[in-house]
Amino acid sequence: MEQLLRNFFLFLSKNKFFTKLAKKYGLRFGAAKFVAGVTIQDAANTISNLNKKGMSVTVDHLGEFIDSEEEARQSADDCVKMIEKIAELNLHSQVSLKMTSMGLDISEQLVMENMRKILEAGKKHDVFVTIDMEDFERCGKTLDIFKRLKDEYDGVGTVLQSYLYRTVEDIEDLNKWSPNLRLVKGAYKESPKVAFPDKKDVDDNYKKIIKMHLLNGNYTAIATHDDAMIEYTKELEKQYDISRDQFEFQMLFGIRNERQEELVKEGYRMRVYVPYGDDWYGYFMRRLAERPANVAFVLKGIFKK
Ligand code: FDA
Repeated sequence: MEQLLRNFFLFLSKNKFFTKLAKKYGLRFGAAKFVAGVTIQDAANTISNLNKKGMSVTVDHLGEFIDSEEEARQSADDCVKMIEKIAELNLHSQVSLKMTSMGLDISEQLVMENMRKILEAGKKHDVFVTIDMEDFERCGKTLDIFKRLKDEYDGVGTVLQSYLYRTVEDIEDLNKWSPNLRLVKGAYKESPKVAFPDKKDVDDNYKKIIKMHLLNGNYTAIATHDDAMIEYTKELEKQYDISRDQFEFQMLFGIRNERQEELVKEGYRMRVYVPYGDDWYGYFMRRLAERPANVAFVLKGIFKK
């Protein structure tokens, strides 16, 4: 049943009709639990509140699977504005973005132009930029673009997903760039031809890549809500005497808020991924797919109104 629900929400997450409809009607169905608001100012307020609690942020102007050049350029401009806002208000925040929102499905040249514009702004204002990882179909292209950009700019990182068979090789290959990587389990619907179908294998591979990347001496963001993975990282820290400056935990806005605060109190670096904007639908559906309890939360919200 859980798997069925998961597949249903992942299927819905890519529906273009609902995506367009959602943009028109603003945050609905409890999406505000996971999305900071629709404007830059909404995002800035949320970042400032989290900073006061000792947490850093990576802020994402929501948008994905864009198919017009104009929209892709607009997305890049929105990212630049966010970087300028972070600098103006002296917020502790990085920026996250998706390659498809920069025009990956249109042309690589367009993505490079957009990314250079953003990374120039990031360099000027000392704001780091992480390229989120999307579905398997786009993984290879995303990593190729990341490597080219990393040759030009220091302030860029990306994400690897432990559910993909290819990821261990990617960790080894990317080591040449000493990259700052966010490690996640993976949020898209993938075929067993390319991704582990069993959660146990995804978890085992997650541990494996955390260890590999940390012991390679690279900065590692462990982006998970899973206590077992957090505890595993703490064990590695002790066993290999890894400095707390070499890694951070990351969680999504609105998920396990108390755990986020506990980690700060324990003296760990904690970064919250804060999405904002009117293109909230796909992101929200993926969060529902991850946890049936979130669906119950949404249903309660609908029937309350
Ligand atoms: P898992 O799903 O195994 O959950 C472990 C426990 O965490 C659950 O038992 C539950 O208690 C809690 N939990 C998990 N999800 C929850 C939810 N939605 N609501 C409430 N509780 C929940 N993916 C991707 O493909 N590309 C990317 O670029 C990113 N980026 C990213 C950034 C950050 C900061 C995070 C935290 C995550 C991502 N992800 C991502 C998503 C990631 O791949 C994954 O889908 C989710 O983090 C859920 O997996 P967990 O590791 O949390 O563990």
